[in-house]
Amino acid sequence: MSGGGDGTALAGFLDFEPPTEDFREAVLQGLAERQKRIPAKFFYDDRGSRLFDRICEQPEYYPTRAELEILENERERLRALLPAEASVIEFGAGAAQKIRLLVEALVTPRCYVPIDISRQFLLHSAEGFARDHPELPTAAVCADFTLAVDLDPVVPEGPRVGFFPGSTIGNLTPDEAVGFLKSAARTLGEGGFLVVGVDLRKDPARLEAAYDDAAGVTAAFNLNLLRRINRELGGGFELDGFAHKALYDRDEGRIEMHLESLREQRVRIAGETFAFARGETIHTENSYKYELDGFQALAKRGGFRPALALTDAESLFSVHVLAVA
Ligand SMILES: C[S@@+](CC[C@H](N)C(=O)[O-])C[C@H]1O[C@@H](n2cnc3c(N)ncnc32)[C@H](O)[C@@H]1O
Repeated sequence: MSGGGDGTALAGFLDFEPPTEDFREAVLQGLAERQKRIPAKFFYDDRGSRLFDRICEQPEYYPTRAELEILENERERLRALLPAEASVIEFGAGAAQKIRLLVEALVTPRCYVPIDISRQFLLHSAEGFARDHPELPTAAVCADFTLAVDLDPVVPEGPRVGFFPGSTIGNLTPDEAVGFLKSAARTLGEGGFLVVGVDLRKDPARLEAAYDDAAGVTAAFNLNLLRRINRELGGGFELDGFAHKALYDRDEGRIEMHLESLREQRVRIAGETFAFARGETIHTENSYKYELDGFQALAKRGGFRPALALTDAESLFSVHVLAVA
């Protein structure tokens, strides 16, 4: 752990950044499957994180505005339910914007610990938060939140509140989400709570528009994965050979993002060659959508007791407060 006094505003930094080897392995394995696929967590290099921030500003991308509306309007109910003097742990913190509203709702929080896989972006946003909240010790953790991380070096004794906004839980399959919740319940411990943002099922046209904005920012975000493979793994993708696709699968209740090969082509990556037929896709992201009770049932399987479910005025998005069971 590096502490304060090194020129940053942070009280500490734990660095468990996944090695490039993990990325190489996931890409080589995923592209060898019949339905080629790469896990969504690899979108987030620094450029990917900055593109995601721009997605949040697009008129079609309602989730960010709807979640902010809930956090803004429901401070009193959140304050009444969540423990005072809690250590706040955020999973997949990104730009660390929504946490500002949650922290305002809490009674004398003790510290803020953002966790994210995107190291440079995490440090930048955590330092920004720390400078704006000098009264609240902030320690950043670069890690894959699907793996257990020992937070004891940066989180004091006492109640813990987890925060998992942005519908990031929707990027996990329901079984993966249950696995994540079980691990989060252990991290948060007895008396702990998790505040989690979950996108709701709705008109497929509205969903598909949110994942295929007219300005092409989500397309650039999706294609950035190929750019990252080229840069970090010495890949040979020609970016104009692939197109962004986002489709809602009603049966699965999820948006799928793919990169579609626009021609027959062969691509060299880390000494291996992968053939793409015209129209063949790489599946790059799932984004599961839930009904309120469907998510609560999932939360119970993950070791939590649903305590409160909040929605925005249009019922586009939900924020659940879950207590460790
Ligand atoms: C959909 S964005 C949400 C960002 C922000 N929380 C928000 O609500 O706008 C997902 C965030 O989680 C991070 N992330 C994705 N998968 C992760 C993983 N397995 N471990 C740690 N961070 C992850 C990304 O870097 C990104 O910042």
